[in-house]
Amino acid sequence: MKLWSKGFEPDKMIEQFTVGNDRELDLRLARYDVQGSMAHIRMLESIGLLKSDELEVLLKALGEIADVIERGEFRIEEGVEDVHSQVEFMLTAKLGDIGKKIHSGRSRNDQVLVDLKLFMRDELKHIAKAVERLFYRLQGLSEEHKDKLMPGYTHLQVAMPSSFGLWFGAYAESLVDDMQMLVAAYNVANQNPLGSAAGYGSSFPLDREMTTRLLEFETLHYNVVAAQMSRGKTERAASMAIASIASTLGHLAMDVCMWMCQNFGFVSFPDELTTGSSIMPHKKNPDVFEIMRGKCNRLQSIPNEIALLTANLPLGYNRDLQLLKDIIFPASTELIECLDMADFMLQHIRIKDGIVEDPRYDYLFTVEEVNRLVLEGMPFREAYKKVGHEVQNGTYSPVREVNHTHAGSISNLCNKEIADKFRKVAGEIMG
Ligand code: ARG
Repeated sequence: MKLWSKGFEPDKMIEQFTVGNDRELDLRLARYDVQGSMAHIRMLESIGLLKSDELEVLLKALGEIADVIERGEFRIEEGVEDVHSQVEFMLTAKLGDIGKKIHSGRSRNDQVLVDLKLFMRDELKHIAKAVERLFYRLQGLSEEHKDKLMPGYTHLQVAMPSSFGLWFGAYAESLVDDMQMLVAAYNVANQNPLGSAAGYGSSFPLDREMTTRLLEFETLHYNVVAAQMSRGKTERAASMAIASIASTLGHLAMDVCMWMCQNFGFVSFPDELTTGSSIMPHKKNPDVFEIMRGKCNRLQSIPNEIALLTANLPLGYNRDLQLLKDIIFPASTELIECLDMADFMLQHIRIKDGIVEDPRYDYLFTVEEVNRLVLEGMPFREAYKKVGHEVQNGTYSPVREVNHTHAGSISNLCNKEIADKFRKVAGEIMG
């Protein structure tokens, strides 16, 4: 059965091809669809398109559907195209003609738009919460291990002293930038498209400010065409934030894989958090971080997928847009799983002591020595040459002391300042 049924039913193959897995994906929109409908009918009543007793009856029935959804019992029946149709059919089955009044002044095009905006707002908040958990985990580890030195590399060659304080703290601060992207995506999502109907508005005097207030949107997508254009744009902004976080997390996962390798051996995990080999009895592999790295790399492709899906679409609604859900919904879930898994694993990370005592890291301290000579009055280039020659002729002997005191360095991590920065940005999305 179709909302647009006019005496014929579409071919079964056509139905299956066009609906695809939309019924399943739409289940995640159900609660927002009801929320949007409640705001819409309150507004219809305020402009005289529904009587107040009709409004009461409709609100009650929608409330009952909302309960079914919250209990996890809501289903989109076979033959019903999407969540919007299912809710309307349920209302009509229960209330008859009153149920049929609800769709005045709207289209499924702005209905799905509003559902997606409400959904993305919540989803971006969930992502922000998961980022926040990982942020504080990393900051805690940075403080806990701030005195443990590790080699810093450039060109993957031993370079200068670094520390676990710096390493953990770096990923925490990097998440602040990602949080900026989340806030931007949140602001794009936080605008009301309802009332744009099929994409060109309506001849009913819709009170769009009223639905904006009722749905607690920050503002309106005023221009109805721009509102329709936001389908794809909202998802694209969210996908960019997701990709940005995924890039940070994928990088962290790569570091862990490398630091776990016996050639480094800087970090380890309890046996039960590693995985084995079917042939090599000694193996304790970092599969968790490899899967995380793979998923995060894949997640970085979603802005591209969305760009290709939406490139050069004609203005107005096109059914291609339906496929956006299949990109963004699983991506967001997968990212949250990766963030939570990173948080879980890092609770159990073990850091090796005395890493830089190993003679292979002697040269980490050459710059330290150059700087010591400079502070004694030798010009930098001379000090550089002197230490360079010592290294070259094998007379250099390292003093394993680190005197980094400036802001953001080994002995002055500025974790508090970074936390302040995080709170300021995160506050914009989490309140
Ligand atoms: N399932 C559709 C989507 O996600 C709902 C909107 C349908 N609109 C239409 N004109 N066929 O885009």
